Amino acid sequence: MIAPTIESEVRSYCRNWPVVFDQGRGSRMFDRDGRVYLDFFAGASALNYGHNHPVLKRALLDYLEQDGVTHSLDMLTAAKEDFLTEFGTRVLGPRGLDYRVQFPGPTGTNSVEAALKLARKVTGRQTIVAFTGAFHGMSLGSLAVTGNASKRAGAGVALGHTLRIPYDGFSGGEVSGLKLLDSMLADSSSGVDLPAAVIVETVQGEGGVNPAGWTWLADLAELCSRRGILLIVDDIQMGCGRTGPFFSFEAAGITPDIVCLSKSLSGYGLPMSLTLFRTELDVWQPGEHNGTFRGNNPAFVTAAAALREFWADSTLEKRTEERGLLFEQRLNDLADQHAAHITASRGRGLVWGLAFREPDMARQVADAAFARGLLVETSGSYDEVVKLMPALTSTDEELTEGLGILQDSVTSTVGA
Ligand SMILES: Cc1ncc(COP(=O)(O)O)c(C=O)c1O
Repeated sequence: MIAPTIESEVRSYCRNWPVVFDQGRGSRMFDRDGRVYLDFFAGASALNYGHNHPVLKRALLDYLEQDGVTHSLDMLTAAKEDFLTEFGTRVLGPRGLDYRVQFPGPTGTNSVEAALKLARKVTGRQTIVAFTGAFHGMSLGSLAVTGNASKRAGAGVALGHTLRIPYDGFSGGEVSGLKLLDSMLADSSSGVDLPAAVIVETVQGEGGVNPAGWTWLADLAELCSRRGILLIVDDIQMGCGRTGPFFSFEAAGITPDIVCLSKSLSGYGLPMSLTLFRTELDVWQPGEHNGTFRGNNPAFVTAAAALREFWADSTLEKRTEERGLLFEQRLNDLADQHAAHITASRGRGLVWGLAFREPDMARQVADAAFARGLLVETSGSYDEVVKLMPALTSTDEELTEGLGILQDSVTSTVGA
C-alpha cells in the first residue's frame, strides 16, 4: 500500500513500479514489504557498479566520519584534488586525452549546457547539429538538441539554433544524415550556415538503444574536423564503462573536442557531472559558467574510489564486452523466436534493447518482468523498446536469471 503522495503529477518511474523501495545491494533492490527485485535498470546507468558497492561505501563512510568537507562550490578540497589526480592518471593519461575538466553542476543536463555554451563561445557561431532520436536533458539548451516531441513541447518556448539531421540507421537508413550535412555545407546557397558543433550519442539510450556504427562515427568526426565544426560526444549514459571501455567512443578511434559525462561517475548514485574539452578550447573567463553544487565532495570521494577499484586495468572493460556477446546471442534468439512481434534486438556492451512492433507490448513485457521481480524500463520514440541495463558488476548467475525472467515475460505477453 503506497502512502498518499504530495508529489507532483510529473513523477514517472514510480508509476511503473508502484512499490516503496527501501534498500539496494549490488544488483538487487528490496521493497518495504521485503520483496526482492533484480535491477536491470541500474538508475538509468547511474549505478554501473551496482547499489552501495562496499568499497565505495567504505570510502564514503570514512570521509563522513572524519568530517570531510561536504559542500564547497568550486573551492579546492582534498576530495576534489584526489578525484582530479585519479581521473588524470587512470582515465585521461592512458588514453592520451589532453582534456581540461570542468565541473558544470551536478546533473547531466548541466554538462550539456556547458558544452553547448562553450562551443558557441569558441566558434562565435550559434547553430548546433543534433540527431533524430537524441536525448540530451531537460533544460532549455539540452531540450533544443533533444528529438522527442513531447519533451520539447514541455519547454513552452521556441527552442532554436538547432539543425536536425538523421542519425545512423534512422528510418531504415534511407537518408544519410552525414552526406546531407556535408552537401548542404558545401553549397553557400543551401541556407545552412556553418554550425558551432555537432552533438551525438554513440548509442542513443533514451532514443531506443540505437548504436551508431564505428565507421559512421569516424566519418562524422572526419566531417567535423574537415569543416571546422566542434564534435561533442554526450557520454552521459554510455560512458563509465556501460558499453565496455571507459568512454563509449574509444573503439571508433575518434577524439571528440568536447565530452559530457555524468550518471555513473560517482559510482554511488551521488550527483556529479563533468564537461571535458581540448585544452585550447578553454576560453572560459573565471566564473563565467557558475553553479552552487559543483563541489559535491562525497561524490568526488566515491568517484575516486570507483576509478581505483574498476579502472586500474582492463578487467571490467573486457568482462563487459564478453557479457555483451552473451546478451547479443540470447536476445537475437528471443527476437528470432518471436519475429512476428520483435522487430530488432540491438546494443553494445551491457546496454541492450528489444524493439516491439506494437509499442504497448514493450510496456506489457516490462510490467510482466516487474511482476516476476525484474526491473527493466522502456525507451524509443513510441516507448516500443524494452531496455536492459544491468549493473556491470552483476554476477553471471544474475545476468542469466534476468535474461530468463525477460524470456518468460516476453512469452507470457506475446504467447509462446
Ligand atoms: C545521453 C544523455 N544526456 C543527458 C542526459 C541528462 O542527464 P540528467 O537527467 O542527469 O540531467 C541523459 C539522461 O538520461 C542522457 O541519457
